[in-house]
Amino acid sequence: MGSRSIRIVEVGLRDGLQNEKQVVPTAIKVGLAQRLKNAGVKTLEIGAFVRADKVPQMADTKLFLGELSKTKDFKLVQLSALVPNEKGMHEAIAAGLKEVAVFTAASDSFTRNNINCTVEESFVRFEPVFKLAKKNKIKVRGYLSTAFGCPYEGSVSEKRVVDLTARLLKLGCYEVSIGDTIGVAVPSQVESLVKKIKARKISLAKIAGHFHDTRGTSLANILTAYRLGLRVFDSSLGGLGGCPYAPGASGNVATEDVVYMFEKMNVKTGLHLKSLIDTNHWLSQTMKRSLPSKVSQAGSLLLS
Ligand code: HMG
Ligand code: MG
Repeated sequence: MGSRSIRIVEVGLRDGLQNEKQVVPTAIKVGLAQRLKNAGVKTLEIGAFVRADKVPQMADTKLFLGELSKTKDFKLVQLSALVPNEKGMHEAIAAGLKEVAVFTAASDSFTRNNINCTVEESFVRFEPVFKLAKKNKIKVRGYLSTAFGCPYEGSVSEKRVVDLTARLLKLGCYEVSIGDTIGVAVPSQVESLVKKIKARKISLAKIAGHFHDTRGTSLANILTAYRLGLRVFDSSLGGLGGCPYAPGASGNVATEDVVYMFEKMNVKTGLHLKSLIDTNHWLSQTMKRSLPSKVSQAGSLLLS
């Protein structure tokens, strides 16, 4: 990745679809994954090995992965899925994944609602996950949710966010994605947190930004993070998304909107905007609802 390029982690198939009221059939997920790959997506989070009664939209993760593995198309795409504990990790290994993501948060009430344990207990659950990862040569990404605010507790301590980021990296995460789970962050908060992460001597090459667009501040937050040195951002095609255990959380920042902003700034994303917009229109028709991305709503006119 050059100094004027970023990497986008496409999370629409997981973060996006996990919050949809309608459970999207596996065949449609395959169609979406193929279109995303054709648009240049190289890192794709495709599901979660969690309780099906908690997040039914992700119950077909193993089946979905099996379908993707049937073609050679996805050989060059880094596929990943969420894994909360040892059981989930065994399922990810059985499904043949070479990358997984563990997830915890900066507030206990959110983790209790989301994964039924405290933050401290989540780290206990991660221990066997990292052992298995090492043994099976699986890369582990980390998510730290509620980094800018919690739906149950309100403000969170920046120090706790930095401490937990350092702890996830020490445990073996190759990258930690800092989550604005409920889309409350504003650029001054992003600046303050990124500066504190830097001051702790944590390499920004190991930090990603995961911004939800609940209050329309996600692009401003991403640009702020970029100017301070972050080069990896999570986004969802169309701006699909949310978190079923974060009341009021709406979609992730839309992939098309991130790509439009950076490409026009001459920062390379490796993604093809027109293909993303076409994919949005295909998915909107398939799901029979419009998706929030501003860029896709504006359409492909005047792109170049
Ligand atoms: P638990 O109930 O605490 O687990 O669930 P347990 O160990 O007490 O076991 C209870 C039962 O669950 C047992 O089954 C286990 O086998 C089963 P029983 O014996 O009663 O039949 N179980 C599992 N089943 C399937 N997969 C597993 C698993 N583990 C145990 N991995 C658990 C803990 C985390 C599994 C549960 O609370 C859960 O599934 N929660 C859903 C979490 C989730 O997917 N949340 C949304 C994603 S996070 C997010 O969106 C934020 C993010 O985008 C970043 C941001 O925006 O900030 C990443
Ligand atoms: Mg999220």
